[in-house]
Amino acid sequence: MNIVIFGPPGAGKGTQSAFLINQFNFFQLSTGDLLRNELKSGSTLASEIENLMNSGKLVSDDIINNLIEKKLIDQSIENRIIFDGFPRNIEQAKTLDSLLSKYSQSISLVLNLKVNYPILSKRISGRVSCSVCKKIFNEFFDPPVPCDHPECKTRTLIKRSDDNEETVTKRLKTYDESTLPILDYYKDKGIVVDVDAMAKIAKVSEEISNIIKELKS
Ligand code: AP5
Repeated sequence: MNIVIFGPPGAGKGTQSAFLINQFNFFQLSTGDLLRNELKSGSTLASEIENLMNSGKLVSDDIINNLIEKKLIDQSIENRIIFDGFPRNIEQAKTLDSLLSKYSQSISLVLNLKVNYPILSKRISGRVSCSVCKKIFNEFFDPPVPCDHPECKTRTLIKRSDDNEETVTKRLKTYDESTLPILDYYKDKGIVVDVDAMAKIAKVSEEISNIIKELKS
């Protein structure tokens, strides 16, 4: 089963993807993480990507689709992928369908994380993550505790460079204009399930877990 986890910046897509990896052995394919890795690699595209991310705009479809296809050829993740932060516009949604069909796969479920926008800037401004294992915490809602892995003892807690108020406003605008319309594309396929993402993290995980168990049964 492949899943799209859908929602605005700060809705909890990364947080719930981590839960799904642990609980159901899914593989998280986050285009945001792939892009941040690309920045660290210092590739020729890095400065173009960094400018777009820090201005809250979308990176070009060509770059994104190329990153995604490189992952889809890996058979070990077949039919257990959570797409996090992808697709982000209708073109990407159509490309994803055709790429998946090329590899005899499809999307079975779109988890639509529903949140009220006013809470998002607090979630985003409070976000920190472990420099070693990447676990996500929140200074307001999910305060950092020691990670499970011994190698995280030397961790620092990292804030993302696009997690500032100005960029968040732009990211939300981009979401409304380009990404939200995808929901209708998936609703027409009958695969969207709404999730109350205003609830506590554990409660949201429980709701998602129940949805997946029901689909698998
Ligand atoms: P990306 O990295 O995908 O960021 P995003 O979509 O803006 O989403 P976030 O990672 O900010 O939020 P999230 O929903 O994962 O929330 P999280 O679980 O961390 O993209 C970054 C940029 O890359 C884009 O702006 C764009 O430029 C580019 N990009 C990426 N993909 C692209 C694509 N396909 N095409 C083109 N460009 C692309 O949670 C947030 C915080 O809230 C955490 O601190 C968490 O602890 C807390 N929290 C989570 N759930 C709850 C809860 N239920 N209650 C209280 N706190 C909670």
